Amino acid sequence: METLNQNQYSMPRIGDTAPDFEALTTQGPIKFSEFAKDSWVILFSHPADFTPVCTTELSGFAMEEDWFRQHNTKLIGLSIDSIHSHIAWVDNVRKNLGVLMRFPIIADIDMKVAKLYGMLQPGESETAAVRAVFFIDPNRTIRLIMYYPLNVGRNMDEIKRTLIALQTASKHGVSLPLNWREGDKVILPPPKSLEDLEKRLSDDSVEKVDFYLAKKELKV
Ligand code: BEZ
Repeated sequence: METLNQNQYSMPRIGDTAPDFEALTTQGPIKFSEFAKDSWVILFSHPADFTPVCTTELSGFAMEEDWFRQHNTKLIGLSIDSIHSHIAWVDNVRKNLGVLMRFPIIADIDMKVAKLYGMLQPGESETAAVRAVFFIDPNRTIRLIMYYPLNVGRNMDEIKRTLIALQTASKHGVSLPLNWREGDKVILPPPKSLEDLEKRLSDDSVEKVDFYLAKKELKV
């Protein structure tokens, strides 16, 4: 018999407004909707402080914080640990690795935010958040979600690539093909009229496989 309560373990979806919440973090109390205003946000969870994979991941985020800031993106972490644990771990990582996690880390000891964002996945763990990554745009719309299990660390290159892809798609109204990286050709939306189609067919700068698959370099 299925015992999972849908409300208790709700799963936000791509296209949903990122649920608002208030929480205590290593940078003081925050209201998420205010924190997220006019900025991209990457909200990510980790299973527990003082664990090895999480230490590699969060120190990795800390080392890239300037890069994310330059791309109009705020970072915010979360785990089901107390604020005292977070502060002690941040200090420990600073001492051991010389890396300071300046971004806020939510102390979600009552699991409120983890449940709101589907970070608690009982088949994996009843008490620790999985490794989730939510990409949230400046309208507070969830644009992409990654979930990793407890025993596999995330890939920072892919997180950065994905952010650039989302920002490029939004800015230029295009799509991105398999393995796309910044600087590669982008996919144009399908023509919406015969006139669009004629224009595309006569545009030598468009690489045309067929009318529905056409690629172009973005002008910088
Ligand atoms: C880790 O970060 O190393 C870890 C945390 C929870 C379960 C397994 C591994």
